Amino acid sequence: MIDQFGRSITYLRISVTELCNLRCRYCMPAEGVCKRSHLDMLTEDEMIQAVEAAASLGITKLRITGGEPLVKKNIVSICRRAAAVTGIQEVCLTTNGVLLPELAKPLHEAGVRRLNLSLDTLNPEKYAYITRIGDLNRFWEGFHAALEAGFEKIKINAVLMGGFNDDEIIPLAQMTKQYPVDMRFIEMMPMYDGGDFDSSAYIPYTRVLEKLPDAVPVQQDGGVAKLYCLPGALGNIGLISPVSAHFCADCNRIRLTADGKVKPCLHSNVEYALKGLDFAGMRGQLEKAIWNKPAWHGDLDAVHRSQAGRNMNQIGG
Ligand code: GTP
Ligand code: 5AD
Ligand code: SF4
Repeated sequence: MIDQFGRSITYLRISVTELCNLRCRYCMPAEGVCKRSHLDMLTEDEMIQAVEAAASLGITKLRITGGEPLVKKNIVSICRRAAAVTGIQEVCLTTNGVLLPELAKPLHEAGVRRLNLSLDTLNPEKYAYITRIGDLNRFWEGFHAALEAGFEKIKINAVLMGGFNDDEIIPLAQMTKQYPVDMRFIEMMPMYDGGDFDSSAYIPYTRVLEKLPDAVPVQQDGGVAKLYCLPGALGNIGLISPVSAHFCADCNRIRLTADGKVKPCLHSNVEYALKGLDFAGMRGQLEKAIWNKPAWHGDLDAVHRSQAGRNMNQIGG
């Protein structure tokens, strides 16, 4: 379906849970999230019905997110059923990777074709700090399980943080020389309660290019990242710049939260509820959400925080 600004909306991101087995400082509070009543959350059948309604409006690509989607007990079944919906051409998933040793193969068999993994640092102490509770060894085990499972594409996401990982841009970028993966650097978005980062933490994507003078531009793949490649690399470098150079004019996506709210824009608090509706009801709400998708997300910086009204773990990025 086309929105009122002429953008074709073909991509739905579904957050299947707000819960996570990590506590990244830019994403959620230290104490984690209050477990909500399951009565407030979409059931698996409701999620699949929402996918069917979205597909009937022209959605072809799904991305499963969280929280951490792999902590959801029925994640493989959700992926399998979503991949089988008529009109859905591609099911992708974004994860912190920790549970991939058990789940990489079953997810691939269920029809997930592309994985994005979060990794902000190569240093075990810094990883433990930024995730508050994470163990970098677990990430590497998951990463290797993903490589072995045969996914079409694996991308690594690092949120750029001045004073934290700007000294690791070169080693992180070199992952693309060692492995057949894309390495993406993401400008940190100031969320509702996104930790106590001061303005020096918000660094623009141009800093990455300064550190990688031999990176050459390559054609975009239809995603939100500007793409570059290092000489001899097996994958691309992606730069995602929601803060310094927003990409709202080309935005092709809507989001569905685990509690059943369609968000036409990541940074708006306007939401359309699907919980408890039948197919026609969900389709109607999705139609309204797409038509009313805002032109852009408004200023976003350390002073103008996101208006999403939720933290990242409750939206899915
Ligand atoms: P591809 O399908 O591989 O292009 O993935 P993706 O970049 O859409 O998904 P991913 O879950 O890996 O998200 C990467 C980063 O981009 C995260 O920090 C997201 O929050 C951010 N992002 C994704 N979509 C949007 C968007 O519509 N607006 C903004 N501002 N940020 C987005
Ligand atoms: N700004 C930018 N990216 C974020 N992510 C989580 N919180 C933020 C934020 N405040 C990223 C995660 C994950 C992706 C889905 O979103 O690192 O890779
Ligand atoms: Fe969990 Fe991802 Fe948020 Fe980190 S960024 S706390 S891994 S949902």
